[in-house]
Amino acid sequence: MYGTIARPASQVLSEVTITDQEFRLFQNLIKAHTGIALSEHKRNLVCSRLGKRLRALSLPSFRKYYDYLRDEAGQTELEHFVNAITTNKTDFYREKAHFDFLEQEMVSAWKARVVRTGKRQIRIWSAGCSSGEEPYTIAITLRNAIENFSAWDVRILASDIDTEVLDRAAQGVYPTERVADIPKPILERYFLRGTGSRAGFVQVAPEIRDLITFRQINLQWDPWPVRTFFDCIFCRNVIIYFDKPTQRRLMERFAAYLKDDAYLFLGHSESLYGMSDEFTLLRNTIYRKREGKGSATPPWATK
Ligand SMILES: C[S@@+](CC[C@H](N)C(=O)[O-])C[C@H]1O[C@@H](n2cnc3c(N)ncnc32)[C@H](O)[C@@H]1O
Repeated sequence: MYGTIARPASQVLSEVTITDQEFRLFQNLIKAHTGIALSEHKRNLVCSRLGKRLRALSLPSFRKYYDYLRDEAGQTELEHFVNAITTNKTDFYREKAHFDFLEQEMVSAWKARVVRTGKRQIRIWSAGCSSGEEPYTIAITLRNAIENFSAWDVRILASDIDTEVLDRAAQGVYPTERVADIPKPILERYFLRGTGSRAGFVQVAPEIRDLITFRQINLQWDPWPVRTFFDCIFCRNVIIYFDKPTQRRLMERFAAYLKDDAYLFLGHSESLYGMSDEFTLLRNTIYRKREGKGSATPPWATK
């Protein structure tokens, strides 16, 4: 005789499938909260990522999870929900041509500006910074390209909607494999090697970490809690997840936060083609705000 073998709850739940109606509910919820437009081919991904949340909360169906998210009691779960849906792929020196351009063209332009204005100030926003590799690469590039760096006032705002990646970004700790392709002189100068229990990890040096402020900012928020005009915005591999009207609105808002002649970087498969006349294309995915296109009134003063 064989008795029935009770399956562990997690196994039962891992078989829960998502219905068309449930998937549509999550599509609408994620769009409303983040701007991310989940296409049908993301269905399996959503099912597996949210399935983990169902198991963590011991909920029997996606519908119950949705109801929980809509309930007052589930408001803290919204953060886990958003963190589970975002795609955070990133790398140090990702799309290296951007950092070559920053070093060779932009730093020279900013140095020339000192002659005109007497100001040695640079403000950069890494919007959708994921786990920090992008803003750290920006900071290292600037630190390395500007000789009398201590005479400059350089600040980088690094933001993301996902609190989990932001926590990691702020720590600046990475497994050594993640930095394997960084040139040795840069690695030795700007990273600390872990020892003992931290062997196998590196940490970005304090002189680089101190240049960056990490903050949770959802690009869908209006207004943003930001009161600075920027010399450059990196928003790479973020708008690819948004629909066209959301992209267009975001670019208008970025333009209002950029100084005249400031730069905008998009990801390799993103473009402003047919979307905005406020920017000129300089090189593939590198844009410059057209002079005189912005309003003199800061965007934060009009809210
Ligand atoms: C693929 S990563 C890109 C990281 C980095 N910019 C790069 O190119 O390597 C996209 C990031 O955008 C963030 N994101 C998605 N929607 C967002 C929103 N509405 N507001 C802020 N960040 C968002 C995600 O959490 C994710 O970390």
